[in-house]
Amino acid sequence: MKEKNLTNELSAALDRLSKAVFSQPLDKSAEQKLTVRPLQHKGQRLFQIERQRGAQAFHQNLEGEALLQLCADELDGRYRQALIVTEESAAQYSLRQNGLYKKSGGAAVPRPAAAQGHDREKQYLLREGEAIPALVDLGVFTPDYRIVKARYDKYRQINRFVELIDQAFTDSDEKAITILDFGCGKSYLTFILYYYFAVRRRMDVKIIGYDLKADVVEHCNAIAEKYGYDGLRFVHADVSKDVLYGEKVDMVVTLHACDTATDYALHYAIEKGAKRIFSVPCCQHEINATMHKGGELDVFLRHGIVRERMAALLTDSIRAQILEDRGYTVDLIEFTDFDSTPKNIMIRARYTGKKSRTGRTAAFELAERYGFRQTLLELEKDD
Ligand SMILES: C[S@@+](CC[C@H](N)C(=O)[O-])C[C@H]1O[C@@H](n2cnc3c(N)ncnc32)[C@H](O)[C@@H]1O
Repeated sequence: MKEKNLTNELSAALDRLSKAVFSQPLDKSAEQKLTVRPLQHKGQRLFQIERQRGAQAFHQNLEGEALLQLCADELDGRYRQALIVTEESAAQYSLRQNGLYKKSGGAAVPRPAAAQGHDREKQYLLREGEAIPALVDLGVFTPDYRIVKARYDKYRQINRFVELIDQAFTDSDEKAITILDFGCGKSYLTFILYYYFAVRRRMDVKIIGYDLKADVVEHCNAIAEKYGYDGLRFVHADVSKDVLYGEKVDMVVTLHACDTATDYALHYAIEKGAKRIFSVPCCQHEINATMHKGGELDVFLRHGIVRERMAALLTDSIRAQILEDRGYTVDLIEFTDFDSTPKNIMIRARYTGKKSRTGRTAAFELAERYGFRQTLLELEKDD
């Protein structure tokens, strides 16, 4: 087999590069491992370099030319092992005595197998072992990118969320996107979305996550900065009253944003004409707390558990009707199975511009008859 110059190999793979890893340095003063991943930033394809020194990792973003220069100056011939993965193939390189590399592999990257019976074996869009370092900082992955057991349900949820978004973007050729995440909390989803759009889809992505908790917002901003995720930022805000991002927004997401925070997110999305909404509501107390007897629905009010579930379903049905009135096509779909979370309905909406008032009128009549309050209905009553 012909021996290879590593810089030439990296250069040939650059356009389709998914990941490159350089390990086992000859010189002990060099970094133990160096990982390269593509990243989209302001319409430009960059490469994030992660240098592993002991337990610490350092990051910088480089353009393609600068990466190849770095490879020629610092890496080629100085690391015993290298791995170059493109969208089609993966090849391993081992350093020979003459300073060139022996290449093995180059075979097609295996596609995920069909899901098996046991959930642990299910192949997710974001696979265990995929180098997403921010997920290590967030406590979802271990340092060798295995799923932390206690975070398995969360991992399934964010994976499913991204799978549903992936389906919506199958035929899309959009190059840039602005997304707001309401009630982002520890922001597992927010980081994954950034990774999905910036690294997987190579789009120019801007994401803002909002949350009430100042310490969590600060922590998430520090992680985003650490990994050079320039298009990702977190803002300490109460989405029910603070002034939020004022420019064009393409997509609004929520994952278990508490109670009426979901309503403010949907209202905001409508106001901004967001093209897409993916919203998994959380607890929904309003209708349950305010509803009294008033007609055919009284049969659902006799038992607490039934009343609670019916009120939650009614809440999401009203939200869907309002979105339809305001020009969206809406699906209510099962987000994950009940074992993972009982809050498992996703409101998925796409703007078409076909508006009406009939859904809101019917919902107002119900609200009047049964005496309940529903925030989105209130917010949308004057439009
Ligand atoms: C159950 S957590 C979900 C967090 C995250 N989306 C996830 O799924 O891991 C709900 C988050 O919504 C935030 N939240 C609730 N009401 C809010 C409001 N009015 N404005 C901003 N954030 C809010 C809470 O602080 C909390 O972090």
